[in-house]
Amino acid sequence: MTATPIDLIGGALTDGFRRAITYLRVSVTDKCNLRCVYCMPEEGLEWLRRDDILTYEEIAAVVRAAAGCGVRAVRLTGGEPLLRRELPQLVASIAAIDGIEDIALSTNGLLLESAAPALARAGLRRVNVSLDTLRPDRFVRIARRAGLEQVLRGIDAALACGLNPVKINCVVLRGENDDEIVDFAEFARRRRVFVRFIEAMPVHAFAREQQERYLSADEVLARIAAHGALLPVDGPGGNGPARYYAFADGHGAIGTISPLSHEYCERCNRVRLGADGRLQLCLFGDHAIDLRGPLRAGASTEDLAELLRAAMLIKPERHHLRLGEPAARMRALSEIGG
Ligand code: 5AD
Ligand code: SF4
Repeated sequence: MTATPIDLIGGALTDGFRRAITYLRVSVTDKCNLRCVYCMPEEGLEWLRRDDILTYEEIAAVVRAAAGCGVRAVRLTGGEPLLRRELPQLVASIAAIDGIEDIALSTNGLLLESAAPALARAGLRRVNVSLDTLRPDRFVRIARRAGLEQVLRGIDAALACGLNPVKINCVVLRGENDDEIVDFAEFARRRRVFVRFIEAMPVHAFAREQQERYLSADEVLARIAAHGALLPVDGPGGNGPARYYAFADGHGAIGTISPLSHEYCERCNRVRLGADGRLQLCLFGDHAIDLRGPLRAGASTEDLAELLRAAMLIKPERHHLRLGEPAARMRALSEIGG
């Protein structure tokens, strides 16, 4: 199927496949304080220069234009977004934009304990925390830095601040943490959090190893079901592709995210604003337009809205990732869970 011309009725963002775009992911930095094996090389990446990164005013200008075109939900991501200074200021200015109903954050949790109260006060509604193991030694192996205790305290702080729901994103790696699947399911029961198991994606240097490490969402569910019966349920709300299951005894729920299956592209509702001001139309491809240039040349809200609408024409129907094949131009992902 090829993209058909879009209609711009009401100025909404509708792509060539008749999908309404209502959800904007915003990367506020490409830097990270961990080096998860499936995401970044140990030495880090070639970081963006400070001037290349959008200011909070520039980000807010894009969100304002997007909200005028029907975007209702924003998620702040990275890299690790809590590395960016004064993040609550950005949250507050996004919360003040007409039409934005939901602001969420994806974080690795290392800095969450101290950051959570101010973020909640500024208008953050909910948070996703990446956590792949409940064992300290393994945490160091997978994230290449220590920090399990800090992350657990961050999760508790988020719950205590009323951020709701708190979702945990766990990338499942065969032979590395797959023996903790049931422990994570129990963790979800005990802490009123949703644990979502994510299939490992072929990012960069991880592409080759991914083939050995990959474990499908179906296999995750089968392993949990052997421990206690699962029933499909509605999720806690949100904008993402997860499917949720509750334990038959009524306590707790878990979810799966399987980006390698394509069903989820059909319901795609999102685009991503990179920290460098590139609007990426698919998380896994290189379809993008630059918004930083127009922003710095004085684009108005209406100009930006026009660019957003035009970008809809190049949003692809689906990604083309396959086991073991790296995605074009994919940098750190820090992205899928959500
Ligand atoms: N496979 C799956 N998820 C990934 N993430 C980053 N890299 C990958 C990958 N190779 C996502 C996970 C993680 C978040 C920070 O980014 O959701 O929790
Ligand atoms: Fe950082 Fe997240 Fe990538 Fe880990 S997965 S290195 S926490 S951005």
